Amino acid sequence: MNALKINLKNVFNFISEKEFNNLHKKVDEANGLLHNKKGRGNDYLGWVTLPHTVRDEEISRIELLAKSLKKKVEVIVTIGIGGSYLGSRAVLEALNSTFESMGADRNAPLMLFAGQNIGEDYMKELLSFLDDKSYAIIVISKSGTTTEPAIAFRLLKKHLEERVGASEAKHLIIAITDQSRGALRMMSDNKGYQTLVIPDDVGGRYSVLTPVGLVPLAAGGADIRNLIKGAASMEKACSENIPFADNPAAQYAAARYLLYRSGKKVEILANYNHKLHFLAEWWKQLYGESEGKENIGIFPASVDFTADLHSMGQYIQEGERILFETVLSVNKSEHQLTIPSDPEDLDGLNYLSGRNIDSVNKMAELGTLLAHVDGGVPNIRITIPELSAFYLGQLIYFFEKACGISGYLLGINPFDQPGVEAYKKNMFALLEKPGFKEETEKIRKRLV
Ligand code: PA5
Repeated sequence: MNALKINLKNVFNFISEKEFNNLHKKVDEANGLLHNKKGRGNDYLGWVTLPHTVRDEEISRIELLAKSLKKKVEVIVTIGIGGSYLGSRAVLEALNSTFESMGADRNAPLMLFAGQNIGEDYMKELLSFLDDKSYAIIVISKSGTTTEPAIAFRLLKKHLEERVGASEAKHLIIAITDQSRGALRMMSDNKGYQTLVIPDDVGGRYSVLTPVGLVPLAAGGADIRNLIKGAASMEKACSENIPFADNPAAQYAAARYLLYRSGKKVEILANYNHKLHFLAEWWKQLYGESEGKENIGIFPASVDFTADLHSMGQYIQEGERILFETVLSVNKSEHQLTIPSDPEDLDGLNYLSGRNIDSVNKMAELGTLLAHVDGGVPNIRITIPELSAFYLGQLIYFFEKACGISGYLLGINPFDQPGVEAYKKNMFALLEKPGFKEETEKIRKRLV
């Protein structure tokens, strides 16, 4: 079977291949910790075996729910932030037509997102857009008190209730939250919303294959069965029994660990397909929140090529040599389009006439790879055969597994995120949230 592949040829002019191979014991140990649950953060390892343990009834329930939403509404708004948002957006953007929101054929309601920012304009424009639409809400929050999604949910719930009445609105609101705790659980039980559960042992950024990702994905038209099948195939390929040389997640984790130790502090995830933009956003959260702590960790950045070759390309080629690049490459594009011949040929493009656009893109990719390697930027290449639910499932699990291994190689807990509380504490003090008043004066003084 075709599968995700990793190519490390262009890192071995920067790190020693011998040292890389010698790392196998340490990497296998780190991978083992994810399975025997003896490492840090071991309460949050439910994702490791998730793909092969997702129950068929759960998938069927989610598919049924998606089907009923499709019959009822033209738009769905998914509310969530961070791990409660990025995974589903990444997969939907990768699978759906780029122009579907502009009216092209859709086999599912239009999926919109809210609660991922506190933009007043964003919210107002969204509500105005929804004024004459039939819509449902999928609200995702483990705690139910995260400020951004809580504000969005308040506004959207009110808007929906005013439009269709509270008794109808409750059938158009689906909540994905904790089994028994938290504000959203309480609200859902009080109001009678349909709920699905976020497992206790899966943290937000590892939760795409739980209802957090699966419900909006199914509702947005994605094939969640094949997504899970792909993830399950990668679960096998990266398991603790697979030898280092054949285990793509172990290889990726080892390469980036040695690159980091050699002074390459920034990893840029590059894609040559605009549909992967949000996959990189998801990846940045996964790696940034998992590794960036205790004053260490690779800084995860991303670029969309070839667009960003005309902006960030200069820095990557000639700026400070602290970068390495991981290229996400898709072998086959979904559609075929050839470049037409032009009798005048003023743009000099006739030498390309009759060629597929993707073949030009691929030459840009290979040319850039060589240029960046020549410029001192090591290159890891990850290839999938095509952009399908199956291979996205592989990609998701591959990155998750490699992230867990990487965290243990660095000696940190890859499953907590203590640093994200700092801004919240200050914001709450400035907003004079009950319980934070003592901090308010201190903070205000620092701002004058
Ligand atoms: O990865 C994480 O844990 C975070 O990104 C959370 O998912 C995010 O902060 C949302 O939290 P909640 O689901 O409680 O609203």
